[in-house]
Amino acid sequence: MKTPDSHAPDLPDRRLDPPGDPSSPANLLTDAILEMYEEVVENPEGDFHFHHGRDAALRFGYDPEAIDRLPAGAVAAFAGVGNPHLRAAIRPGETVLDVGCGAGLDALLAGHAAGAEARVIGIDMNPAMLDRARTHAAQAGVSFEGHLGRMESLPIGDTEVDVVISNGVVNLSMDKPQVFREVFRVLRPGGRLSLTDIVSGRELSPSIVNDPKLWAS
Ligand SMILES: C[S@@+](CC[C@H](N)C(=O)[O-])C[C@H]1O[C@@H](n2cnc3c(N)ncnc32)[C@H](O)[C@@H]1O
Repeated sequence: MKTPDSHAPDLPDRRLDPPGDPSSPANLLTDAILEMYEEVVENPEGDFHFHHGRDAALRFGYDPEAIDRLPAGAVAAFAGVGNPHLRAAIRPGETVLDVGCGAGLDALLAGHAAGAEARVIGIDMNPAMLDRARTHAAQAGVSFEGHLGRMESLPIGDTEVDVVISNGVVNLSMDKPQVFREVFRVLRPGGRLSLTDIVSGRELSPSIVNDPKLWAS
């Protein structure tokens, strides 16, 4: 079992293959993802070529009243691609893990659904995002356990989680089967996964696949 925050503070395994080679595809992708989402959290009013913030949340069917009860920063930096809560049906007391929690919008809603005694965990590889999620959780009065880490190697013990949610994150991984192995490792038997993400119905051109900036968004 891995210990929580085992990747903090400096993400020793941020470089996937091989360590230290900044030009490897995995490392270029990691750098592009870090840069892209740092920009979202630092400058949420900026111009991005994907939907984000309150408009995106409303487009994806979030309850406006629930959204407007959250800290404004959590809503402004929302960068999801759907609404995992539509199917998650989180019950009071359940342990919830948000994989790639970003600035925390889905984790905060999970906290409201699961209640004050529940465990809400967020994992993200971006220290700026995670820091913001912790701040937003404190502002919202949600008890939140934030861990710096990668979805391919979740810093969570086996079968600790009732519900995994994730929003716009798995598409960013170069090793998606490993992400699902990790999700099923941490879920208890009979646990649930509610995932919203992007899939392509057709093969993407090499010019897209080989562009870290396009992959990162
Ligand atoms: C599109 S944003 C979505 C954030 C959040 N789920 C939301 O709905 O606002 C993707 C998030 O996934 C995180 N991320 C990307 N690759 C990751 C990885 N390998 N492990 C953990 N987090 C990752 C990014 O840092 C970013 O915060």
